[in-house]
Formats: sequence, structure tokens, C-alpha cells
Amino acid sequence: MTLSQLQEATEFLKQQTNHFSPQTGIILGTGLGALVQDIDIEYAIDYENIPHFPVSTVEFHKGRLLFGTLTGKKVICMQGRFHYYEGYSLAQVTFPVRVMKLLGIEQLIVSNAAGGLNENYQISDLMIINDHISLFLPENPLRGTNLATFGDRFPDMSEPYAADLVAKALHIAQANGIRAHAGVYAGVTGPQLETKAEYRMLRMLGADAVGMSTVPEVIVARHMELPVVGISVITDMCIPEQLEKAEIEKILAAAYKAEPNMTFIIKELLSHFVSGKAN
Ligand code: HPA
Repeated sequence: MTLSQLQEATEFLKQQTNHFSPQTGIILGTGLGALVQDIDIEYAIDYENIPHFPVSTVEFHKGRLLFGTLTGKKVICMQGRFHYYEGYSLAQVTFPVRVMKLLGIEQLIVSNAAGGLNENYQISDLMIINDHISLFLPENPLRGTNLATFGDRFPDMSEPYAADLVAKALHIAQANGIRAHAGVYAGVTGPQLETKAEYRMLRMLGADAVGMSTVPEVIVARHMELPVVGISVITDMCIPEQLEKAEIEKILAAAYKAEPNMTFIIKELLSHFVSGKAN
């Protein structure tokens, strides 16, 4: 990934969208596509048509970049994300996050499906991510020459998820009877799910949920100092003593069930968002 590849993709998108200038970037996770129905879509561009963009391989991921308005706010939405387990480098996985920043976003909202490690969680609960543990070892999206136009060589990670937005999301949930917790997300590479011993280890490390995405995108967003909101949908419980066989259908069903709640919180967050840009 080079700066000129990022710029080429950005220029292409500006031309295709009549210089649409989004304020918020949204990345939709596995089974969490329903938000799209609420977006007033102005432009939809397939990943495969965007220069240097990776192409999504997982069959239930759509693979389009959407430009439009949601609750009156200009958004760019990734309908389908890239995962490390698909074979991409983390630089490729995070390429769209850099492009969204170049297109002008001022904050990033990421969602994902995750396994619950905290005993107080239930399937289809939401977890507002308040910190993460990167287990994408030894890969790193920032490895290599630092792109100094975006950020520092050694970006700060003391508050990867904007504390005021975490509080706001929790407040919205509470005021509307939505089950949501604040918690730590452990990002693993996948694609296999974890063993009981690994779930035990992740819990001991301090994680409340585990999933195969999000952390690389957030590292890159924070490199560029973009404020981030992360929302996990708990799709399966990963308590070692009670572990059931993972079934992708059940995981997707749990994600679908929680979707309206997640959509509601994202829309509420957006409606309170004040852009630093003139419209
Ligand atoms: N592990 C990793 N990723 C996941 C899980 C899990 O248990 N559930 C949903 N995504």
C-alpha cells in the first residue's frame, strides 16, 4: 500500500460521487447489513471497481461502498469488510479506512459479531467496545515506512475508543431498554473459532468478547486520530465449561436479532453528531 494508491482510489471515488463529502464512516460486520436499508443511498460502488481495493471473498458479505445520508448526516458505509483470514495483509484490510479518511470522514463507527467471554453477557446483547487487545500477531497494519501525512510513527493507544461516545452509546441503550455493556474486545486472526483453553486464556487476559476483525481498522483509524465507536453484537457465548458447538447459522441468527438495537444506537449517535465541516 502506498500513498499514491490511496490517492488514486480516493480520486476515483470523488469523481464517481460528484465529490460527495462524508462526515462519518461506518463499517458493517458479519450479519449486520440491515442498517443499509435506512441509508438514503446516493451512490453505491462495488469494491471490485475501485482501484487498489481488495475484493471481499466471504459469500455473505456484499462488498460495496455506499454514499448517502442517515438521519440527515452524510455517511460512507462499507457493506462488507475485509478479514485477515481471507488472505489479505493488514495493510490491505485497512486500505478502505485510509481512503475514507482521505474522503473527509471525521469519525468512524465499526461493528462486528463477537463471542461473549463475560459471564454476565447474553446472546444478542450489545457490547460497546471500550478497549481492545490485539492478537493479530505478528502482523500489524502500521508495519513498514510510516505514512507521516497520516500520523505518528508511534501512535498513542491510551484511548482507542472515544470515551465520550462510549458513554453516549451506553446512555442511549439504557434509556431505550437495550441490553448493552462496555467491554474489552480481543481481536484474533481466525478463521477457526477458539478452543476452550483459548477462551479461558482470553478471559484471563481481560477480554469480554472475541472476534476476527475491528482491531486492525481501529489501529489505523487511531493512527490518523479519527475518533472511533466500536459495537460488538454478542452472537455466541464462549464460557469454556458450557461451550456448545459453534454453528454459523446460529451466529447469524443472533446477529440479525440484535441488528435493530445496533442500528438504533448508531442512528442516535449520528443524530447528535456535530460536524466540524461546513456542509
Ligand atoms: N470467536 C471469534 N470470533 C467470533 C466468535 C468467537 O467465538 N463469535 C463470533 N465471532
